[in-house]
Amino acid sequence: MLNGTHILLGVTGSIAAYKAADLVSRFKKLGAEVKVIMTRSATELIAPLTFQSLSQNPVYTDMFETPHSWETEHISLAKWADVLLVAPATANILAKLACGIADDMLSTVALATRAPILVAPAMNTAMLEHAAVQENIKTLQSRGVLFIEPEEGRLACGDTGRGKLAAAEDITDAVLYTAACPKDLAGLSVLVTAGATMEPLDPVRFLTNHSSGRMGIEIARMAKMRGASVTLVAGMVNVRIPTGMNVIRVESARDMHMACMEHFRQADIVIKAAAVADYRPTAYAENKIKKAGDMNISLEQNPDILAEMGEKKKEGQLLIGFCMETEQLEENAEIKLQKKNLDMIVANHLLAENAGFQADNNTVTILSRTGTKEALPNMPKWMVAGEILNRAFHMKQLDKKRD
Ligand code: CTP
Repeated sequence: MLNGTHILLGVTGSIAAYKAADLVSRFKKLGAEVKVIMTRSATELIAPLTFQSLSQNPVYTDMFETPHSWETEHISLAKWADVLLVAPATANILAKLACGIADDMLSTVALATRAPILVAPAMNTAMLEHAAVQENIKTLQSRGVLFIEPEEGRLACGDTGRGKLAAAEDITDAVLYTAACPKDLAGLSVLVTAGATMEPLDPVRFLTNHSSGRMGIEIARMAKMRGASVTLVAGMVNVRIPTGMNVIRVESARDMHMACMEHFRQADIVIKAAAVADYRPTAYAENKIKKAGDMNISLEQNPDILAEMGEKKKEGQLLIGFCMETEQLEENAEIKLQKKNLDMIVANHLLAENAGFQADNNTVTILSRTGTKEALPNMPKWMVAGEILNRAFHMKQLDKKRD
């Protein structure tokens, strides 16, 4: 996703400096070119050689060291960058950036660059909450610097509170958002469902399925990166939910039904990737069911959320369903597309190799109300998410033109 993007990473003297090594490796894996500038205090905490090896580029630590090329180094680096990320960012670098102080390589490049600047602070809670730091953050935000919010947690000093460097996934997403994604879904509201529902039988047991939630979460994540306002209704998932979206956690199909219908009206695009249980136990036992020979469980049907949305769909709303099959994939998908009044259905064959419930990849066929049928090759789920959103965007454009 970051193929060829030039990321300039500024590492400053926070204990979290070692976490920047993981960021370099993630950016490289996504195809980016990475160069690293370290402040002098950062070099006390982690060796430049680590970043040099991971980025496969020289590391810049000093304004006046022997230049790596004949060019004026701070200017050429400033021009080279597609994005400047400062992670971790100390209170000191925030103050310098806010005041325009240029007394080392990082602060000088930050002044000289026209690239977007992202800052991921990491410091003690009291420092973060200090009026001076807060004012500097506000000043920088008003100039368009993007802040990646620090998390709550146990800090290096032993305190617990806000100030922990944001998770590597969130920092990577912020860079992707800034440098790699078109904002073609800006202004649109997207409702996504993900994961498995859980149908309780007694206080100990429940009925569920193998869904990991990854497909739906990738769709929500990509929609957010493309500028949409995203609501994610998530059942049981075993992947991390990204920040920056409205997340509603649910357990049963009936909970999911309620949450979905509450947000359905405002949604421009609905994508139902959740694996919803069609049935729930008819009775819930208040106490643990004791073993007593063979037993039968009576089940009753859950509401079909997607079908209800299909009935209530307003003009201009786009409804996209998923379809999981082990046989006659396209025929069954076609039937569901018509029966549930969908605009698009994403069909996946549960028995395909490296695809389906727990896999990183998926192999899908996308059918649309206009009669198109496209079989996509096996690809990572985030790419499948992008393909679905491309088609949703295209359909929205067509609908707009028709109006
Ligand atoms: N779905 C739903 N509510 C249900 C069941 C399914 O909203 N109670 C949605 C799923 O989120 C998915 C689509 O309907 O987007 C198709 O789900 P799938 O399990 O493939 O099909 P079903 O409609 O349940 O039909 P069947 O189980 O008979 O294949």
